Amino acid sequence: MDYKTTAILVAASSSTIMLIILFILVVTFVCRRRPAIKDQPPRNHNFPDPDLTSSDMVTESASFDPSICEISMAELIKATKNFSSDLIVGDGSFGLVYRAQLFNSVVVAVKKLDHDALQGFREFAAEMETLGRLNHPNIVRILGYCISGSDRILIYEFLENSSLDYWLHETHEENSPLTWSTRVIVTRDVAKGLAYLHGLPKPIIHRDIKSSNVLLDSNFVAHIADFGLARRMGASRSHVSTQVAGTMGYMPPEYWEGNTAATVKADVYSFGVLMLELATRRRPNLPVVVDDKEVGLAQWAVIMVEQNRFYEMLDFGCVVGSDKGVEEYFRIACLCIKESTRERPTMNQVVELLEDLCRFMYVPVTP
Ligand SMILES: Nc1ncnc2c1ncn2[C@@H]1O[C@H](COP(=O)(O)OP(=O)(O)OP(=O)(O)O)[C@@H](O)[C@H]1O
Ligand SMILES: *[C@@H]1O[C@H](CO)[C@@H](O)[C@H](O)[C@H]1NC(C)=O
Ligand SMILES: *[C@@H]1O[C@H](CO)[C@@H](O)[C@H](O)[C@H]1NC(C)=O
Ligand SMILES: [Mg+2]
Repeated sequence: MDYKTTAILVAASSSTIMLIILFILVVTFVCRRRPAIKDQPPRNHNFPDPDLTSSDMVTESASFDPSICEISMAELIKATKNFSSDLIVGDGSFGLVYRAQLFNSVVVAVKKLDHDALQGFREFAAEMETLGRLNHPNIVRILGYCISGSDRILIYEFLENSSLDYWLHETHEENSPLTWSTRVIVTRDVAKGLAYLHGLPKPIIHRDIKSSNVLLDSNFVAHIADFGLARRMGASRSHVSTQVAGTMGYMPPEYWEGNTAATVKADVYSFGVLMLELATRRRPNLPVVVDDKEVGLAQWAVIMVEQNRFYEMLDFGCVVGSDKGVEEYFRIACLCIKESTRERPTMNQVVELLEDLCRFMYVPVTP
């Protein structure tokens, strides 16, 4: 080999090696980098906890919130004193809700789903990942979940001031925080949360809008709870109970005609009923007597609005000055409860109507 050939060989092989090294570096770098999605909070996964699970038990948990880094079943058992009944704050149709304090003193709501409401492991995890990514000031944040064997547990932010159901029906304080303007603001905020869910690229239909699913934070701002649950469990949960009866009054007429397919317009109907409940302090599942006839809350409101008897419907507890939007409020509610789904407004339209009402009442409209 002459000098020239050797030089060419050396140059060729060294540049090939350089290329290979470069290639490896690039590949490593690209694979390491995770896509940075802005509205997706960091998540931590922890897979089987050997201390806690038998070998045949599938365990997975995830947190969507940086304030709680990891939620293992062991942690949850500690935080809820082994799901102690003293810590129960709610007993709904999907399971019990506990108030729990995590090790870092963050207070959360822990919802342990009933076993008969169960869903496959992967399916549940996938759905919780979707719900955990949602972010809106008027929906309750899901902070994480935990699957351990046959247990399905959801971890939510804890809201200090209970539910609308509590303030409307379970307490009768002299100075109720539910003044007329507060009720209008709560209505508008629930509408915004619902419009957000309906406006997602893959819309979420709540299917169980009712006063116990509207929670209030320490500033009395409304947050919608339990979105995404009814769809998974609805069909299997039709056993007779007061819970179901309570939900009855919110169901749109098309449900009675056997058309139980979930639609955004069914949510609009339930929202309209919620508006009526909030202004009248009447439970939607109880009949109202009008002209010696028993009718449902929605039917009653339609009759009363037709006859311009707005103020007769109002809860005495919310003292209203002269004309503070009461008539318009009931008209909006009656639009939402139209029999024909096509005549019901969308939630975006409802938000606009309610924001106009807030302006009219000089209630600040939040951005
Ligand atoms: N994140 C939370 N923060 C504070 N309290 C909560 C939270 N979630 C639920 N609760 C309390 O638990 C109560 C019951 O909630 P739960 O969802 O279990 O039952 P429900 O709303 O009556 O029925 P359903 O299961 O049909 O929604 C609520 O009204 C509220 O008082
Ligand atoms: C928790 O409660 C269950 C039954 O309610 C019981 O079997 C279990 O031993 C308890 N665990 C602890 C750690 O106390
Ligand atoms: C709501 O909760 C906060 C904090 O717990 C409390 O200070 C406030 O008084 C409550 N609001 C009402 C109207 O009860
Ligand atoms: Mg609920």
